[in-house]
This record gives sequence, C-alpha cells and structure tokens, in this order.
Amino acid sequence: MTALIRRLLPLLLALTPLPALAQQPAGPPALAWKTGAEARAIERRIDALLARMTMAEKIGQLNLFGRGDGFRPEWVAEGRTGAVMNFTAPAEIAAVRARVAESRLKIPLILGLDAINGFATYFPQPIGQASTFNPRLVELASYWSAREARAVGINWTFAPMIDMTRDARWGRNMEGAGEDVHLASVVAAARVVGYQRGGLATTAKHFVGYGAPEGGRDYNSVWIPVSQLWDYQLPPFRAAIGAGTFSVMTSLSAMNGIAATGDRDLVTGILKQRFGFRGFVVSDFDSVRELINHGMAADRAEAARKAFLAGVDMDMMSGAYDAHLADEIRAGRVPAAALDDAVRRVLRVKFHMGLFDEPPFDPATAARDLATPASREASLAVARESIVMLRNHEQALPLRSSVRSIAVVGGAATHQEDWQYSDNAGLPRVRPPKLPDELSRLLGPDVSVSFAPGLATHCNLAAGDTAGAVRTAEAADVVVVMLGEDCEQIGEGTSRAHLDLPPVQQALLDALITTGKPVVVILHTTRPFVLTRFEGRVAAILQAFHLGTEGRTALAEVITGRTNPSGKLPMTFPRATGQVPIYYDRLPTGRPRLTDARYETGYTDEKLEPLYPFGFGLSFSRFGFDALALDAPRFARTGTVSGSVRVANTSGPAGKEVVQVYVHQRVGSRSRPLRQLRFFEKVEVAAGGEVRVRFAFPVRSLGFHDDQGRFRVEPGEYDVYVGNDSNATLTARFTVN
Ligand code: BGC
Repeated sequence: MTALIRRLLPLLLALTPLPALAQQPAGPPALAWKTGAEARAIERRIDALLARMTMAEKIGQLNLFGRGDGFRPEWVAEGRTGAVMNFTAPAEIAAVRARVAESRLKIPLILGLDAINGFATYFPQPIGQASTFNPRLVELASYWSAREARAVGINWTFAPMIDMTRDARWGRNMEGAGEDVHLASVVAAARVVGYQRGGLATTAKHFVGYGAPEGGRDYNSVWIPVSQLWDYQLPPFRAAIGAGTFSVMTSLSAMNGIAATGDRDLVTGILKQRFGFRGFVVSDFDSVRELINHGMAADRAEAARKAFLAGVDMDMMSGAYDAHLADEIRAGRVPAAALDDAVRRVLRVKFHMGLFDEPPFDPATAARDLATPASREASLAVARESIVMLRNHEQALPLRSSVRSIAVVGGAATHQEDWQYSDNAGLPRVRPPKLPDELSRLLGPDVSVSFAPGLATHCNLAAGDTAGAVRTAEAADVVVVMLGEDCEQIGEGTSRAHLDLPPVQQALLDALITTGKPVVVILHTTRPFVLTRFEGRVAAILQAFHLGTEGRTALAEVITGRTNPSGKLPMTFPRATGQVPIYYDRLPTGRPRLTDARYETGYTDEKLEPLYPFGFGLSFSRFGFDALALDAPRFARTGTVSGSVRVANTSGPAGKEVVQVYVHQRVGSRSRPLRQLRFFEKVEVAAGGEVRVRFAFPVRSLGFHDDQGRFRVEPGEYDVYVGNDSNATLTARFTVN
C-alpha cells in the first residue's frame, strides 16, 4: 500500500481543484525526508554529534516533557530534554527555545502539540475532513493547521490520528477517518503531506489498534486477528510512512494481550524493520509508566527498560527514561547500541527538519500568520464539502423563496468558541460567525431570522427555556435546530454506552416537531448518533462533524442553496446502539438475511441494515450512474483494474458527486468481505450535464493476508459495484488471472 499511496497521492491531490485562495505571505519550508547525498551527509553529521555526546545528553534527547507538569525550562539548558510539548504562547515558546543556546551541544528542540484540526483558525474535525471525500481539502486543512502552529514556534504535531474507527461508542472517532481502510489510508497520507508542507513534523498514531477497544471503551484491551491487523489496521500506517511521517506514536492500549508500548514485535519488528520506518517512535502520554498498570512491569525501571527495548525511542511525560535509563544501561540490561540507535532517530528527524540550520525564532512575526483571510477561506472551503445531508424530505432544502421567517434554535448555533483539543489561551482567536447572522446575511431583509437557545447552555445537556423555543418556532415558517453532544463528551476518554441524542435535546426536538413546522436538524456531533427515533419526522438532517470556524457560514450556504452539499459518511450510522460495531465491509455469513426468517443473520428486534450506509450523502441534484465498462474482462495479478462509468446530473443545480467503486471477490480461500471500497473520486457535474469518470486500482489492492501475515492475491472472479454509496448496485465482473 505504501508505494501505491505514494504513487496515487499526487494524482489524487491534483484531480480536485482548489478554490482560489486569498494572498498570503510565503509559508515555512515544507518538511520532507531528504534523500541521496543529502541524507548521507546527515548521517555523517549525526555520527559526529553522537561521538561528542555524554550518556546523559543522549538520554536527554529521548525525554519529552510538557509545559506545567513539573517541567523546568532550565532542563533545556542542561541537555536534559530534547523535546517539549503543550507550549502555545509565542513569547513562552521563544523563551524555552532560547535556552538551547545555553546548552553544551546546542541541539535544537522539537516542540509538539495536538493541532488536530487547527490552531487559530479551526477546520472540521478530522472525521469531518474525511467526509469531504476530497483528499485535496484534507491536505489543505492540515496545511493551515500546521502553518498557524508553526507561526508561533511549534514544529511538531501529535497528528494525524490514523486509527481505524468502526465503533461509534468510542469518543475518538472524531480524530480519525472512519471505518474504511482505503479512505483512511488516503486521508492519512493527505494529512501527513499537508502538515509537513505547512512546517510541522507529523506523528502517525496510535500504533496500533487503539481505535478498536472492546465495547468501544477508551483504553480498553483490543483483540485483533493477524489477518485483520494486516488488512485493516496497518495500511493507514504504511500510507503515512509512505507519505513521509517523521514520527509514530504507540497506542495506550494492549493488543492481543501485549501493551503496544512494550511490544517489540510490533514496534521494532513491524514498524521499524518490515516497514523500514527511519523516524522516531514516541510513547503516548505516560504510556511507558502505564506498563505497570498493564501488569507488564513491576516498577518504573522495568517499564523504561521494556518500552525502550521494544523500540520506543522517546518517552512522553512519564519521566521513566529520565529516571532509569542510565542505570539500566550501566547495569547492562539495555545495550548502549540501542541508545545510540534511538538518539540517532531523534537527531535524524531534527536534521531532516532543518532545525540545526534554522534562524532563531522571532515571536514578533507570529501574528502575521494566524487567522488570515487565506486560512479562513480554506476553512470555509473544507466546511462546505464536509456537510453530509442525510435527509431532505420533499426537498425541504434549500429553503423555498416562499419562506419569510426562520426560527433558529439551540445554543450551538450561536456560541463563539470552537471546540479545541489543546488549550491555546492567549492567542488571537477568531470568533466564529453565528448561524442566525449568516442566514440573515444570505437571505436579506425580506426574511426574518429569530433565535431561541432552547437549552440552558451551548453545551447542550441542561434543559432550558423549551416553551420559549416553541413560541419562536410557532411564529416562523421553518425551524432550524442545532443539536449536539455535551462539550465534555467529545474526544478522548468519552466513550458512550448510548448513542441517542441526550434526553433534554430529544425532548426539545419533540416539542419543536409538535409545532407542525418543518424542522431542519443540524447535528453538531463528533460520531454517528442513532437518529432512528426522529429521522422520519423531520424535514431535513444535516450532519456537521464540528465544522470549525467557518462552519455556520457553510451551513447557512447549504440551507439557502448557495452550496450544494457533497459530503459522504465515513462511518455507518446505526439504527440502534446494539448494532454497533456496524460497518459495510463485513463478511457474508452462512445464513445471509434473505427472507427475514429466524435462522438468518440479524436481530429479532431491529433490522440488520443501518439507518444510513457508509459513503451515503444527499445532494440537491440527482445523479445517475450508467454505462459502466471495464477496460478488459481479465486482468493480470500484477496489473491494474481499470474502467469507466457515466455520471449524469439528471435534476437540480450543478453539484459534486463522489464516484465510489467497490469490489467483491466471489470465491476465495477465506471468506471475503461483501464489498470493499477500492477507488473514489469527487467530480463536479453541471446541471443537466454528464461526465465519464475513469477509475483504476492495482489488482494487488484486492489481496489480503492470512493468519500468518502472508499476503496473497487470488485468481478468480471479482464483482465491481459502482455508485454513490456502499449500497451501489451498478455492477460488472472481471477475472484475475
Ligand atoms: C493521547 C494522545 C495525545 C497525547 C498528548 C494522549 O492522552 O492519547 O493522542 O497526543 O495525549 O496530548
């Protein structure tokens, strides 16, 4: 997959046109691995530097400490730390960076931050970036997130999270690209390229399996058969490495009974040896010490030894390397050569990032690059394509010209703080526009827009003035209600056992529906919710995965018809929480659901099918797919499957549609998934127009691994399905020789 992604990425990125962006001063130099003579010269510089380093200075390069948390800036001067995290204020960053000059060897610092969807300008959360199905926009969001963080002196990010996410109960779905391995791999590569082009070294995380905790419970153990590890969990990492990520973070969890941070087969065996990863591996937050909690180490010294011998080069925040690595080496329990290899990897990244030759950081220039017109335009461009329209009953949207008044309900429509992973207090912040204002601006003075919060706070969990919201709704032609999760139920450590809307929101929504007014629901959520209870009773549903700074503008554009929605679901939306985990590329069973009979796979109290399938998303236009043609009936195992399909915009305005190509191997040595996405492309089709879309994917991408991790591509017949979601029905067949 690595080579494939590397080959396809420029193509993918070139295919989707970028909006013309506002003028902007040139950005920082793009980060990428150097090759050939340059790379060899770097290794010689590392040799020379290593020869001058004391053991303490070497270990210092492997320590990552964070702002607050007991860290003291003089540690930089003492050579006790090579990396710091969670600094965001430019003056503080300048001060900590300046301490390098006081150190004996003056090895530059790397400064890390989880800039997962922005820094001053916010972008849709990563799952919302994936729902654009537009790698060019994903890359753009990462580029600006990086460029802004870089402007204040940060140079490393703990992103992208590229864990496969197939369980809506897990709170970190928002940081990933969803359930499909091909989409996740394309997005992983686009994010690495975008961040590093914007000047931040990336961290592909969490190696590996973190996104598949049992029961969807964060940090819980993970059980993944070898074949699935290779077919589903590892490909996004290969893609990220192929795209040039400088670092990789280990998972907090234990997979198949071994905590990843202490798993030598994974970290050294697969990542460093088989994948040839040349950068450094960083632990997750305190995960070295947590080997004690996992029951894999008796104390911090053993934890340090086990993690280090597994191949974890840098210790994030546990202090175990700082406290114990030297003793472990002196006692001969850790070979000195292993220390040199780890330090070499950290120095290699610093050299390839160009840090040794960088001019000193000037905090005075920071503001120039924050929340600029260009970054805000980019944010709007991504938000527009991120919105997924799940329902549009009797074409309720865009609003008809007969609509004279709109009631906007829900504090989420007006609060002016973007959700953010890292606290970047003290920086220039953009106040995101409010939805009622944006609707008014676009609709002009002839349409009145009123607002009622409905809930006590924008954080959604406490009931507010429901009666007031109902009165506002009753006085309007249309109701637009923006609902979502509680602010404390987003992201890490926020697993849920219930995927329904919180009861107070459900009650508010019911009251609004009872007015008889058409209700447009905006879901300002971070994962699939169960919408079954209300979806048939509302006029329209727009899924917005926290769209970022310009999200309300993008929503107003869709509601008023200025933007034709084109987002697609990167995760299946279940009908009931009990269906989870639910994903489209499941295996067939010996007893498929054919007649709804008892002894066929399914549930006795719920349908087998989800509410909305993977890849689904409506448009104001109707798109027809036909004339599917493969270029040949047979393809060689080393060849490329190629063909084309006609996409026609049969009614509605010009719009963008995502052509999705799925493949099913009819008979194999193992049971093969019902279908798997192998190609997608977003295309623009004029009103009444049609385009012929060509598709191609290597036959090799149809292969799979067995339980010994051996890869094979099997000859035989394969079915192709082409359409605009994972239920696509247009089909053709080919043979692999
Ligand atoms: C998360 C990581 C994150 C780190 C630093 C951990 O708890 O799992 O993804 O990068 O904290 O913020």
